[in-house]
This record gives sequence, C-alpha cells and structure tokens, in this order.
Amino acid sequence: MILQLLRDNQTAPISGEEISQKLGVSRTAVWKHIKTLKNEGHVIASKSKVGYCLLQSPDRIYPREITSQLDSGVLGKKLIYLPQTTSTNTIAKEAADSGAYHGTAIIAEKQQQGRGRLGKQWLSDNTKGIWMSVILRPDFPPFEAPKLTFMAAVALISAIKKTTGIELGLKWPNDVYYDNKKVAGILTEMKAEMDMIHYVVLGLGVNVNQQLTEMPEEIRELAISLRAINKGELCRTKLTTAILKELEHWYEIFVRDGFKPILEEWRQWDVTKNQQVQVKEWDNDFLGTAQGVDNEGNLLVLDEQGVVHPVHSGEVSIKIKT
Ligand code: BTN
Repeated sequence: MILQLLRDNQTAPISGEEISQKLGVSRTAVWKHIKTLKNEGHVIASKSKVGYCLLQSPDRIYPREITSQLDSGVLGKKLIYLPQTTSTNTIAKEAADSGAYHGTAIIAEKQQQGRGRLGKQWLSDNTKGIWMSVILRPDFPPFEAPKLTFMAAVALISAIKKTTGIELGLKWPNDVYYDNKKVAGILTEMKAEMDMIHYVVLGLGVNVNQQLTEMPEEIRELAISLRAINKGELCRTKLTTAILKELEHWYEIFVRDGFKPILEEWRQWDVTKNQQVQVKEWDNDFLGTAQGVDNEGNLLVLDEQGVVHPVHSGEVSIKIKT
C-alpha cells in the first residue's frame, strides 16, 4: 500500500506523517517498509521534513496494481504471484485440484519448466515475459473447451493492441505472430469427465522485454519480443492487467453469445489464410493452402490433390514463399 501511495504521488514527495495517517500505521512502521522497498530495488528519495518520492522501481510484475485495476471482474481478482516456479500451468492445475475458484490467476516472474503445446519446452526462465495461467470452471461440455483457446487468443491480441498499439497476427490455432515470428502462445489444459468439465487452465506466455541478443540463436529465428517490435521496453504490469480485462470481456461474450463473435474477431487477425502451410497431424503430414477457419474452429486446408481437409489439431507452419 505504501508503494501504491508513492506511485500515486510521483510528482511531489509525500511525507511519512501523511503515509502513516492514510494507512493508520506508525511512522516507524512506514520507515521500516520504505527500507524494505529500497532493499527490493526501488529507488526512493527521502528528505527530512519533506517526505518520500519514488524515483524508480525494478522491472517486476506488481500484483496489487493489477488487482486494484480489475474493477468488477472475476478473472485475476484472486491472483497468486510467484517470483519463480516450475510452470504456472502445473501450479494452476494443483490449485484447481485443491478447489481454487474460477478466475484464479497464477503469475510467475520466471518458469524453470515452462511448457508449450505438443510437449514442447517453453523458454521462460527469465523475468522478461508474462507467464500466466488462469483457472476457468465453465459450465459447458468438454468438446467446447478448445474454443476457449480461440477466445484467449483474441483477448491476448486485443490487449496487446490496446496497450501498445502493436498489431499482431493470429496463426492457427493459437499463436500470436509478427512477421512470421512467434510473440505469444497459449497452452490450454483441462480436467474433465466425458460430459463435464472440472476445470480448464489457460496458460498464456508472452515475450515482452527480451532483447533479441538474449534469445538463443535457434529461437531468434522463430520468435520475437514486443520490445523488439516496439523498439523500447514495455510495462509488464500494465500489459498483464489489460490481458486479464480482455479475457474477462471475451469470456463473457463467449458465455453469453457463443463462439460466433469470437470466431468473427479471430478471423480479422488471421495470418494463416491463403498461405502455403505444412500440416502435421498425429497420423498425417501434408502440404496445402490454408482457406480459413470453419465455424467450429477447424483450419481448412486445400491439399495438392484439390481435397479440403478440416484440421482439428496438430501443428501448422506457414511456408514462406521465396
Ligand atoms: C505454445 O505456444 O506452445 C504455448 C505456450 C504457452 C506458454 C505458457 S507460459 C505460462 C503457462 N505455463 C506454462 O508452462 N506454459 C504456459
């Protein structure tokens, strides 16, 4: 709360007396907390008889700033913040198994065992991205759950556009792309019976402040960060808040109006359509031209024999024409 007060008063110093009155704590307590904040890396100028002024804060995600901005929403209102963890999706599943509520979000500064789709590793052992999982307890049948990934992709791309002005593209089914390089991805996991969902975990990974030189060479070919596109650092706290707000917005639309509006929005951002693609399904591997997404979210691919395949799952890569 002291940090929040300092942030609210960044243009003029705020006295220890005023902080202690506003928060109902002693001057000594204020002084001790200021010392802790300084030890955490905040640069706070203090002048006797004048007060404290926040000059700089370390690049961290500030959970209280996020929750205070999520006015009426449910998603992210309960937020678990971890300086580091294995994988937020793993933690989210454990929390959901122990009864965590719909909307609970888990955010980590770093993940040691970040996971991507199809058993791949997701490089996130750094404090430069957004590594977040949100627990949902939807009241619809399990076969509808994959549509939540489309909902999350739309929320993610809208939040990035609103916060940074950067326009990205969506590559089927859930990758956020810029210039054929991946900026963000979604890993949706679920616990369900045949006809009932226990919970869904939406895991979102966004490359935000990595410099290209910090990425391993093999990743640099395939991925990019918002910082590299924006040519400047971005505030992960603001971006995380925006993502949770957009998730709330699009989830409400999904529950109220169904998949159609989500799909309509998704199609606006589709960068796969009309591209030459390589499709790898679990039992099939072929080349073709993407024709857009059908009303269930399957990617329609016209193969070289002129047959259209609805692709439900698997990996699709865009072939760059040379
Ligand atoms: C993909 O594109 O393959 C999906 C990547 C999803 C990464 C996120 S980061 C937060 C959450 N925790 C994980 O271990 N994975 C997801």
